[in-house]
Amino acid sequence: MKLFIDTANVEHIRDIASLGILDGVTTNPTLIAKEGRDFKTVLNEITSLVDGPISGEVISDDAQGMIKEGRDIAKMHPNMVVKIPMTKEGLKAVSTLANENIKTNVTLVFSANQALFAARAGATYVSPFVGRLEDTLHDGIEVIRDIRDILDLYELDTQIISASIRTPQQLFRSAQAGAHIATVPYAVFEKAFKHPLTDKGIDAFKADWEEAFGKSK
Ligand code: E4P
Repeated sequence: MKLFIDTANVEHIRDIASLGILDGVTTNPTLIAKEGRDFKTVLNEITSLVDGPISGEVISDDAQGMIKEGRDIAKMHPNMVVKIPMTKEGLKAVSTLANENIKTNVTLVFSANQALFAARAGATYVSPFVGRLEDTLHDGIEVIRDIRDILDLYELDTQIISASIRTPQQLFRSAQAGAHIATVPYAVFEKAFKHPLTDKGIDAFKADWEEAFGKSK
């Protein structure tokens, strides 16, 4: 499973990219607003940090508006992906942009039917929101599994981005369920790196070394 980061914070992107584990970036209007910076400036900076798919989201409600915004986003950089909400207008925009070879990521997906429609419209990616589903006591991982089964059964090329991840557990369960990609918030990356036994082990190795050879190596 590939790993994207779900943020518009360039410092966080730089940090995770430096580890060599980052395949792409997703943003949304909330994440851009949180940074308090201009949309295009932030996205341009991100394209210079990560050589992989970078989603920028449209804010129009109607297909024509989304198509216009989508073309502008796509022109910014070859790695840009146009993120479009899962509505009927959104699907019209996805199919038009797909015919122009513009990559799209259909967002705010909460069911396998929505994902199937997005895939049939020509979406490059679909983003089921695991965390928001599980916040309301639905099984978000089951939705990932259902979508993967359908995409495989009908040999559809659309890739699943497991989104709205809140916990390290949702991250590895997304991988088990067959998500092609997970988009992970910085705070979840931070938690998932750690294990108390790793820290304990490092402390013990250090203490044993120092007892035998002193402080300097
Ligand atoms: C998807 O790409 C969205 O940016 C994101 O995962 C939403 O997550 P949230 O539910 O934490 O807002």
